[in-house]
Amino acid sequence: MKLKNLRLLNFKNHLDSSWEFNDRVNCFVGDNGSGKTNILDAIYYLSLTKSYFNSSDSTSINFNSEYFTIKGSFIRENSFSNIVCNVKDGFPKSVKNNDKKYKRFSDHIGNYPVVFVSPTDTSLITEHSDSRRKYLDSGISQFNNFYLRTLISYNKTIKQRNELLKHFLSSNTFDEITLTTYNELLMNYGYIIFTERKKYLEKFVPVFQKYYTEISSGKEKVDIEYKSQLNENDYLTQLNNSLKQDKISCRTSVGIHKDDLLFTLKGSSVKKYSSQGQQKSFLISLKLAQFDFLKEELGLKPILLLDDIFDKLDDKRVESLISLVKRGTFNQVFITDTSKARSEKILKKTSSEYSIFNIQN
Ligand SMILES: Nc1ncnc2c1ncn2[C@@H]1O[C@H](COP(=O)(O)OP(=O)(O)OP(=O)(O)O)[C@@H](O)[C@H]1O
Ligand SMILES: [Mg+2]
Repeated sequence: MKLKNLRLLNFKNHLDSSWEFNDRVNCFVGDNGSGKTNILDAIYYLSLTKSYFNSSDSTSINFNSEYFTIKGSFIRENSFSNIVCNVKDGFPKSVKNNDKKYKRFSDHIGNYPVVFVSPTDTSLITEHSDSRRKYLDSGISQFNNFYLRTLISYNKTIKQRNELLKHFLSSNTFDEITLTTYNELLMNYGYIIFTERKKYLEKFVPVFQKYYTEISSGKEKVDIEYKSQLNENDYLTQLNNSLKQDKISCRTSVGIHKDDLLFTLKGSSVKKYSSQGQQKSFLISLKLAQFDFLKEELGLKPILLLDDIFDKLDDKRVESLISLVKRGTFNQVFITDTSKARSEKILKKTSSEYSIFNIQN
């Protein structure tokens, strides 16, 4: 599976830009702020129907416009798919595949898988649990459509339950039947997601550990522990026990939307005790393992988006990473760099097919 071309209209700072891509390595070079990362984000959009960075679509519309369009053609098993993603202020987002509009975006996700490696990934270690859940979900959703649909239903039910709690508070009423309906829905969806996350991590962690050992050439043991309230006690009982508190806060305080991953190195928290180099190796291993896992599950190599890769790895490690494209480990890769000379030197040396694109603001 490859992305053959891309056109951006009013997408962030790109008013009307287009590119034809190489089947192997594509490198965007340009000054800070020229829009290199934005191009990778647009490719991510085509694959996952949303931005890697912004939760709101309208943030990606150019400041002077009311809409953006991303167009790209993927080739997969000799057939072309022209994907068009349209976002217009005040209208629902639309995603089309060969002019056919998707009713559910979940039908699209996973067909053209990508893995994004970004400097902002440090948030996986330093920030709150939602960035780790997002990472987990993007890994599972791209090969497990049932998981994705269940997750969407779960999130919708949480919203509805919170609205109901708000209604109880504002109207000083209580409706046990509706609440029980939501609780039961949450229990059904919640256990499915819990089980799928557990199953995924059981298989994923050994792959991740293998990558960490390769990248760090270290002997330290790394691990990922799945933390979920559903591990502790029956979910329905917990929902009932927390009702008093939930009615005050108008929020649902237990469930898989509170799940977290604990990253450890030699048994200690990576966030608290690991060096910056160890953290970088940890993060890149998380992403390469995700790539490997998706490849196995889908029987298809995802597109790899490597943003500011030199920020993460020294030149030597980038070289060995790029040479993996030549050896067939990776398929199509998109990278960004501020230095054309540095990229060119490395790409020439690793001598895979490549194209370099100059990006100017
Ligand atoms: N909605 C928007 N409308 C117009 N411009 C935007 C919008 N969102 C972001 N930008 C602009 O995009 C630019 C940043 O682009 P991007 O992050 O892709 O740069 P970059 O080339 O990756 O830079 P760096 O080398 O520093 O990583 C900024 O100048 C920012 O103002
Ligand atoms: Mg950038």
